[in-house]
Amino acid sequence: MFGYIHQIVVNQFQLDINSDHGFRHWEKIEKIGIYLAKHTKADITVIKLFALLHDSKRENEFDDPLHGIRAAQFVEELFKKRLLPLTQFQLTQLIYACKFHSDSLAKSEDMTVQICWDSDRLDLWRIGITPNPLYLYTDTAKKAKTILWAKNLKINHSQKIKEYIKEEFERRQRQFTWMPGDLILIRRGKKRLIKQ
Ligand SMILES: [Fe+2]
Repeated sequence: MFGYIHQIVVNQFQLDINSDHGFRHWEKIEKIGIYLAKHTKADITVIKLFALLHDSKRENEFDDPLHGIRAAQFVEELFKKRLLPLTQFQLTQLIYACKFHSDSLAKSEDMTVQICWDSDRLDLWRIGITPNPLYLYTDTAKKAKTILWAKNLKINHSQKIKEYIKEEFERRQRQFTWMPGDLILIRRGKKRLIKQ
């Protein structure tokens, strides 16, 4: 899945696109979510959008307790601009899933929301944490076989995504690297780079 919503998300994303909360994580969650949703009535559109949006408003890689709330607000904004192809019910599911995804005590009886949260937690392997079945919601996610499958899951980025990641990386490099002809503005002790 790659489209205009990806571009909007990437353009405003404050962290490194290749970081622990960047593109690879979003793609893995999408794949895990689709796997968990098999043989259920869970909503794939909501799961895919959760994968893309739930960490989109992170401001750091570590402790950022309000990023879920910001992501939920972002979802609402995008919906108001008619950029998300969702019904009102799907919107409610996505907002709830984003808002509470990092709250280990959060509860939901909705299978779609549970799969969103499970898919995020099953990708904890990437930061060296073994997912704990006590904090997973669905029976499929709690299985040792599924937890191990998520550990070994490999993502093959499509050529288009690889190119996009490379372009985005280079664009950001240019933005934050001083080049001859650029001006450095120092105001109140803070340096600001003005590109020429
Ligand atoms: Fe996440």
